[in-house]
Amino acid sequence: MNTPLTSSSAAASALPRVAVLATGGTIAGAAPDAANTAGYQAGVVGVDQLLAAVPALSSVARIQAEQLASIDSKDMASALWTTLVERVNALLASADVDGVVITHGTDTLEETAYLLHLAVKSAKPVVLTAAMRPSSALSADGPLNLLNAVTVAASEKAHGQGVLLAFNNRIHSARDVVKTSTYAVDAFQSPEIGALGWVQDGRVEFQRSVVRAHTTATPFAVGAPWPQVEIVASYAGVSRLAVDALVAAGVRGLVVAGTGNGSIHATLQQALAEAAARGVAVVRSSRVGSGHVMRNGAAPDDALGFVSAGTLNPYKARVLLMLALASGVSDSAALQRVFDTY
Ligand code: SIN
Repeated sequence: MNTPLTSSSAAASALPRVAVLATGGTIAGAAPDAANTAGYQAGVVGVDQLLAAVPALSSVARIQAEQLASIDSKDMASALWTTLVERVNALLASADVDGVVITHGTDTLEETAYLLHLAVKSAKPVVLTAAMRPSSALSADGPLNLLNAVTVAASEKAHGQGVLLAFNNRIHSARDVVKTSTYAVDAFQSPEIGALGWVQDGRVEFQRSVVRAHTTATPFAVGAPWPQVEIVASYAGVSRLAVDALVAAGVRGLVVAGTGNGSIHATLQQALAEAAARGVAVVRSSRVGSGHVMRNGAAPDDALGFVSAGTLNPYKARVLLMLALASGVSDSAALQRVFDTY
């Protein structure tokens, strides 16, 4: 015999179903004492304990939780990226899941978020969150960030917005967001363009939407072996040693963290031009932290076979270049179209 639902259990069974995937990070960090916000171990607190610290979650969504990994995100690797993308796609393909939240370390969050933004094949919400203070800290920021992330993932308004970050009450697009502080609680910004919206006290508001193609509108998938793509930087006195060694090692692509508008020291540019002539994809980005890199602006891309990263920083440009190379795109004109589209 079915037990009749009480009004509160009836209300609970109408809540959206959100899967929480935990990967570690400071949000799951613990320190020996509550005043310690720097000398802690990341990724040691389990997802059940993180959820238990936020009783209000039960009035926002029906939660299912998985401990996918327990790492400091500085150690994120392509094998775990593959697992994460495949798990998110499998969960969202189920009619029993309305959205996914991923808890992650802040250090490489912008890379994982952009990867998911390009490789998830669903319009259902995928929301990352994190924390700058460990779970043991006075004024830990993780619990409210987690509640806000689940609130966004449970919201109809988040459908079709691509992969999102809910952090410090703001909602950012995975494409634009970057970590901009080593210690501040307001560590994430979307330079120049700003946040998509905000989440507070159960209310979700979007003030703009994402213009560039993402998720279901991209051809990208993970699964094939990841092409080797490395990042090199241009700076005063740089040599060509790193580029020559990487080309000799067989890299498929190089992203340059250039100066200013993606300009490159003449010595490094010569090495990169030779790399491009040998079939290595070369993408110019900037180490500056905001603004865009203009095609043929600070280097003759047409003449050298280089690609401009536009507004992507070097780390995000590397993610897109790996996915593009894995999908079979490799000539510089086609790669430029990829960078102009996503
Ligand atoms: C990490 O990225 O896993 C550690 C740092 C953090 O989460 O803030």
